[in-house]
Amino acid sequence: MRLLGPKDAQALADLEAAVFDDPWDAEKFSGLLGKDRFFAAGAFDGQALCAYLTAYNLAGELEIVNVAVASALRGRGIGRELLRFCLRQSRLLGVNRVVLEVRSGNTPARALYAGCGFTQAGLRRRYYADSGEDALILEWTADGTG
Ligand SMILES: CC(C)(COP(=O)(O)OP(=O)(O)OC[C@H]1O[C@@H](n2cnc3c(N)ncnc32)[C@H](O)[C@@H]1OP(=O)(O)O)[C@@H](O)C(=O)NCCC(=O)NCCS
Repeated sequence: MRLLGPKDAQALADLEAAVFDDPWDAEKFSGLLGKDRFFAAGAFDGQALCAYLTAYNLAGELEIVNVAVASALRGRGIGRELLRFCLRQSRLLGVNRVVLEVRSGNTPARALYAGCGFTQAGLRRRYYADSGEDALILEWTADGTG
C-alpha cells in the first residue's frame, strides 16, 4: 500500500476503466499524480495495482473522487485497509475533513465508509440520472465528530 505518483498513471487508468463507465485516461492521471492538489493511493497484488483511491486535496479538505478494488479481489478487506491507509496519510498532510458522494444503492461502498467512521452530512435526491438514485454526502473528520 503506498501513495501513487506519475509513473502509476497507466495502471491507474487501466484499473479505473475496468471498474467505472466514465474513466479518466492515463494522460489525465499523469497530469494530476504528484501534484499537491491531488491525492492517490493504491494497493498491490504482487506488482499489479489492485485497488486505488483518488481525491482532490483542497484547503485541508479531501474530496474523494473514486475508490475501487479489482472485482476479483473484493470482499477481502482490501478496500477497508486502503481507506484506513488514506485517512492516516491525509492526517499527515493536515487534512481535517474528508467528503465524498455515494449512490444510495451502493451497499458495499456504504458499508466500507460506515466502517471507517464516515457519517451522512447531506442528501441529493435523485442525483444520478441513470438510475434515479439519491446521492448521499458522507464526511469523516479527524477529530472524530464526523
Ligand atoms: C466499494 C469497494 C471499494 C469495497 O472494497 P472491498 O475491498 O470489497 O471492501 P472490504 O472487503 O474492505 O469490505 C469493507 C466493508 O464493506 C462490507 N462489504 C464489502 N462488500 C460487501 C457487499 N457486497 N455487501 C455488503 N457489504 C459489503 C464488508 O463487510 C466490510 O464491512 P465491515 O468493515 O463492517 O466488515 C468495492 O466493492 C468496489 O470496488 N466497488 C466498485 C466501485 C465502487 O462502487 N466504488 C465506490 C464508489 S463511491
